[in-house]
Amino acid sequence: MFSGKTDELLRQLRILKHSGKKVALFKPIIDTRYSAGEVVTHDGVKEQAIPVELNENGVKQIVEKTLNEKYEAIGIDEIQFFPEKLKNAVLFLLDNGVEIYASGLNLNFRGEPWQIIQELMPYATKTISTKAVCSVCKQYEATRTQRIGSNGKPAHYSEPEIIVGGKDRYEARCVKHHEVPGKPKTEFKV
Ligand code: TMP
Ligand code: MG
Repeated sequence: MFSGKTDELLRQLRILKHSGKKVALFKPIIDTRYSAGEVVTHDGVKEQAIPVELNENGVKQIVEKTLNEKYEAIGIDEIQFFPEKLKNAVLFLLDNGVEIYASGLNLNFRGEPWQIIQELMPYATKTISTKAVCSVCKQYEATRTQRIGSNGKPAHYSEPEIIVGGKDRYEARCVKHHEVPGKPKTEFKV
């Protein structure tokens, strides 16, 4: 988090709009951090967005709206939150000539991949990996997200995967300073 993913998404969509394409932006309805009907970056850059539910209805809405309103390109923010069903929708839209731009986290607070990211990433024609400044060592090497509990301590591995939040709940950390109490150690098996 705090690495400019959404900034980059909005930048790409602006370029598409300048080139004359009809563009729509979708976001998960649960992400009301800054605004319900807009995607807003941590620096306050805003763009109107269509909030959709994180279920079959939301996925259907993305497909139907895109095709019915003849959008040539779409953006999806916080794509990590979407269910596995989004994969088929994305592949279907690509087959129908729609360009798709998405922004999301590779890893959850446990340091493990989000399912939909693993499913869709191999299909990407281009991926941009961003990083942030580690809140502990201040090196520009943060690729992990530290969730902080209400007690100010690192969140336990068993916490739910999705908790919407910002600087109140999360910090950017490098691999060395990312802490997940209760995370099972990787076993080497042959
Ligand atoms: P951001 O990367 O655009 O700042 O937002 C990431 C969102 O994902 C934010 O609402 C917090 C949320 N989140 C989770 O729900 N679970 C997680 O494990 C992590 C790392 C983030
Ligand atoms: Mg974001």
